[in-house]
Amino acid sequence: MAAPLLDLKEPRVSSGMSKQILLFAPKRTYRLQDFLAAARKLDIHVILASDRCKILADMYPQENVVAVSFSHPDRTVTQIKEQIDIQSISAVLAADDAAAIPAARVAQALGLPFNRPSAIRKSRNKFMFRHAMAKAGLPSPPFHLAAIHQPPEAILSQVRFPCVLKPLMLSGSQGVIRADDPDGFVHAFLRIRHLLEQPEMTQHCNRAFRYILIEDYIPGDEYAVEAILTRGQVHLLTIFDKPEPLIGPYFEETIYVTPSRLPAESRQRLQATLESACRVLGLHHGPIHAEVRINPKGIFLLEIAPRTIGGLCSRALRFASDMSLEELVLRHALGEPPADLSLQQQASGVMMIPIPEKGVLKHVHGVEEARAVPGIVDVQITFPLNHELIPLPEGSSYLGFMFARGASPEAVVEALQAAHAKLRFDILPSLSVVDGI
Ligand SMILES: Nc1ncnc2c1ncn2[C@@H]1O[C@H](COP(=O)(O)OP(=O)(O)OP(=O)(O)O)[C@@H](O)[C@H]1O
Ligand SMILES: [Mg+2]
Repeated sequence: MAAPLLDLKEPRVSSGMSKQILLFAPKRTYRLQDFLAAARKLDIHVILASDRCKILADMYPQENVVAVSFSHPDRTVTQIKEQIDIQSISAVLAADDAAAIPAARVAQALGLPFNRPSAIRKSRNKFMFRHAMAKAGLPSPPFHLAAIHQPPEAILSQVRFPCVLKPLMLSGSQGVIRADDPDGFVHAFLRIRHLLEQPEMTQHCNRAFRYILIEDYIPGDEYAVEAILTRGQVHLLTIFDKPEPLIGPYFEETIYVTPSRLPAESRQRLQATLESACRVLGLHHGPIHAEVRINPKGIFLLEIAPRTIGGLCSRALRFASDMSLEELVLRHALGEPPADLSLQQQASGVMMIPIPEKGVLKHVHGVEEARAVPGIVDVQITFPLNHELIPLPEGSSYLGFMFARGASPEAVVEALQAAHAKLRFDILPSLSVVDGI
């Protein structure tokens, strides 16, 4: 999901250490702050490769930031070589989806362990992902691809209900819609077409933005998985339960809680499925975030992304010695993973605060009251005031995040729900812009 623009006054990371990491992060990412904090704690020198505008980068020169164009990954290696001594780089990391392919190109050029660009491409494109899973015989719903200019009525004969329609390259459930009947299908198709015809989509110049994937609705409980791959071997870091139902027609994520209630036997099958899927995709090294649905027919992967969990959600995770996920990932990238990868004992969870309605966010009331709810660790409103909130399926920003800890997953969920009940939002109706005015 889109984050606020990278703060040009981002605190510099300290320098003078022996190991340097080249961290690729798009200008709109939620993930940078936590990676930089982890690097500071570990005394690792970070050089940030970002798609920040070159002119702004020159006007506000910052040590340790190199400007690269993420939309032309074939130029990344040259751009990086022009700006820094690449031989000084010990590891390459990507903080977000959009940065993964340029990072992979550079890692390849430097001979550093990372995922190949082809593997990242397959995991990012939902059609390529489905195709790879089905070809390998891994549990997969029937699916097919439609071009956005096709009349949806002409596709109906191939559709089974309920189904899910989705763009190929978006994230955070943007444009993902369930349809239960032909009318719902046509409506959903036209809505996604409209979304993909917006200028911020067409600027991608990527053919994947001209298609819609249609797949059978997969019933079952949904889980999110954080794991780390070491030369092809999957180590499960944690499984999050998603206790609130995700049945559509839109799929707004809310609560993630760990430890999961998933039985040990299902965890083992999940680990085996993940390992097979990573092998099929060619994902080999570094962090992975996966989402799965489990039902009596099997473990259905919705996605595997070669990155850490999105938004600020990683703050729900504290490992042994109070280590953050970003510290763990930085150390792993440098070939020095901690011996103990276990999570702290206490149950922990995060709520991605739902967007109540479309409109301009004027004020959020009750943040202090929410923070005071027993078990709540933090409440962060990340959406800027006076900007327009857009709910799913068109929206792509989080309103904010709440974090809780407790004696049990149930206590964590209760705390998050109680804290959410304290929040009230002043939202003004958006003014629609009329052409020519
Ligand atoms: N075939 C399906 N059956 C049931 N639910 C689905 C299906 N596809 C998607 N969903 C629901 O929609 C949510 C978002 O879908 P998906 O993960 O494919 O897209 P995304 O979150 O936008 O992309 P990404 O996960 O790659 O960032 C899922 O978490 C799930 O709840
Ligand atoms: Mg998803």
